[in-house]
Amino acid sequence: MKLGILYGVGVGPGDPGLLTLRAVEVLCRVQVVFSATGAHSQDCISGSVVDTVPGCQAERVTLVFSMAREMEDRRQAWSENAEKVVDVLRQGKDCAFATIGDPLIYSTYTYLLRRVRELLPEVRVETIPGITSFQAVAARNNLPLVEDRETLGLIPAWTRESVHDPQFHSADTVVLLKTYHHRREILTALQENGFVGECIYASRVGLAGEEMVSGIDAIARIPETYLSLIIAKRQPEKVK
Ligand SMILES: C[S@@+](CC[C@H](N)C(=O)[O-])C[C@H]1O[C@@H](n2cnc3c(N)ncnc32)[C@H](O)[C@@H]1O
Repeated sequence: MKLGILYGVGVGPGDPGLLTLRAVEVLCRVQVVFSATGAHSQDCISGSVVDTVPGCQAERVTLVFSMAREMEDRRQAWSENAEKVVDVLRQGKDCAFATIGDPLIYSTYTYLLRRVRELLPEVRVETIPGITSFQAVAARNNLPLVEDRETLGLIPAWTRESVHDPQFHSADTVVLLKTYHHRREILTALQENGFVGECIYASRVGLAGEEMVSGIDAIARIPETYLSLIIAKRQPEKVK
């Protein structure tokens, strides 16, 4: 029996208008679409974006992943879910794993993919890039992320230790993802490391309840929420 093809599909940050043509084409072609949700989560954002795609007739399967700090729980969920994907591929069905933003940036997809490949080394895989959350936020604010010789740092900022990330010293622009814990420490780290340019906080960009706030003091007053990020620039924008 011929194996199915696995597509890792980035569906963008949540606004269906930010799906790529390639993503739509694949979602309309496969037989099964997997999407991910957390064990304690009420919603599945990638799944709701897929729901908006006219012409997607695929069977939908939501896979539950552990977000626990214990790596063992997470590993177990990756392996169990990989087995479910492999079952479908062994039936010869093409399937997509839909993931928010881009599939290769802090995504469950990469962990799942490793395990799928362990179980089925001969499987054909195609990854479809997606518009990232921070690209969408920069675009919404017409904010250049980097110009000329500037560098961009990407920091997963959910741990206290993240404030010691060397990119706070080196990057001209930092993107802080997962800003749902230790927000005050992060904002202090930005101030102490000389980020005096634009600072934008965004949550649920492209989704119901979207929030966009500018300036460190205003951001400090916003409650912490999972689907949020901060973009901070070291220098104020000037005409070059
Ligand atoms: C597991 S990472 C996924 C990143 C994603 N693969 C990407 O390319 O943007 C989850 C983090 O991405 C950011 N994020 C994803 N979608 C977002 C949205 N619609 N609005 C704001 N932040 C978002 C948040 O920082 C969130 O904590």
